[in-house]
Amino acid sequence: MNINHLLGIIALIFVILSISYFVLKRMKIKFLEFHCYFALIGTVFAVIHSYSSLFVLEFTFGKAALFIFICLDISGLMMRYLKGINKKYLRYTHIALSIFFVLMIIFHIIYYTFLN
Ligand code: HEM
Ligand code: HEM
Repeated sequence: MNINHLLGIIALIFVILSISYFVLKRMKIKFLEFHCYFALIGTVFAVIHSYSSLFVLEFTFGKAALFIFICLDISGLMMRYLKGINKKYLRYTHIALSIFFVLMIIFHIIYYTFLN
């Protein structure tokens, strides 16, 4: 395993910590701050992890995942810090994006661990 793969796994760990908000929220545990910070830290690791093959013009699940990841960060930041907007639809968008994100990550990992 090289350093790039390790960075991918660290990014994934931050993603899992961040998404645990979904469960913790329902257990009445306050976790929103960490949800945001873990996701943003995970994005930084994911960018470094993918940097070397990011500018090759070819569709990959990894690139789709990274693109959705950044959209999630933007929609999350908007929900949290923009005042006077309708947050209901933004929240639906955020949740829908997170479903696609999880799918892309699963495909990305399957592709590199089993098919490559
Ligand atoms: C948040 C999690 C992750 C994101 C957003 C992400 C994204 C990316 C992107 C954009 C690339 C470059 C384009 C490509 O080849 O697809 C890439 C490459 C790669 N990723 Fe990930 N990745 C993540 C996690 C992981 C994990 C957990 C693994 C390990 C199982 C992994 C294994 C790889 C491998 C082996 C490559 C090829 C690197 C190379 O060419 O040297 N990734 N990833
Ligand atoms: C990997 C990236 C992310 C994923 C997969 C993700 C996923 C989710 C999910 C599934 C929910 C719905 C929770 C629920 O209502 O049960 C949610 C809510 C939310 N997320 Fe994220 N999120 C990500 C990044 C971010 C970031 C970076 C921020 C802020 C900077 C953020 C802010 C929020 C806010 C404000 C809510 C609404 C809180 C609530 O209604 O309880 N998210 N996120």
